[in-house]
Amino acid sequence: MEIRPETDKDYVAIKALNDLAFRGEAEGSIVDKIRSSCEEVISLVAVEEGEVIGHILFTPVATMSGEDQVFGMGLAPMAVLPDYQNRGVGSLLVKEGVRILNEIGCPFVVVLGHPNFYPRFGFEKASSYALRAEWDGVPDEAFMVLFLKEPQELNVSGVVKFRAEFNKAV
Ligand SMILES: CC(C)(COP(=O)(O)OP(=O)(O)OC[C@H]1O[C@@H](n2cnc3c(N)ncnc32)[C@H](O)[C@@H]1OP(=O)(O)O)[C@@H](O)C(=O)NCCC(=O)NCCS
Repeated sequence: MEIRPETDKDYVAIKALNDLAFRGEAEGSIVDKIRSSCEEVISLVAVEEGEVIGHILFTPVATMSGEDQVFGMGLAPMAVLPDYQNRGVGSLLVKEGVRILNEIGCPFVVVLGHPNFYPRFGFEKASSYALRAEWDGVPDEAFMVLFLKEPQELNVSGVVKFRAEFNKAV
């Protein structure tokens, strides 16, 4: 199995995989929309024998440090084809994504997701750092942050805003 950046030949497979894994079209549609409106996305696929079996997307998010805006990345969505789940594919996608984000100097990553999955990669409750999601009703433990730079130096706090394309889906 190979993890690599998406190419335009993967777009249809990525949409189909998100639709299957999430049993609906919302997440796959967000991927298509953001890809066409934002150049700074990181979109990786897991490929086995020529088939796209997993996908992860990172998009820019913004929060504040005092009066200054600070940009990080948000992990969403991530999906693995149902027949290939629980084989470590999702974990490899997260690790490769975080490795790339480290390499490009991204200061932090946030995710709204399963609190029993993401802490194994170092994600912590965002509220421990006075960071919160922009949407009402998000369970405290489901909004998480992974700092790639020293949180004390970044000194970020407040609402973390995803791109507007996400607002309709949450
Ligand atoms: C979540 C998902 C991407 C994980 O991919 P994966 O390849 O199955 O993940 P891995 O094999 O690396 O890790 C499996 C772990 O994820 C956990 N996990 C998978 N789906 C989960 C879910 N819906 N809720 C909670 N934990 C989940 C498994 O319990 C397992 O934990 P364990 O190692 O303690 O047993 C995949 O299950 C999926 O596509 N789910 C449907 C789409 C989805 O909910 N995506 C949102 C991610 S926030």
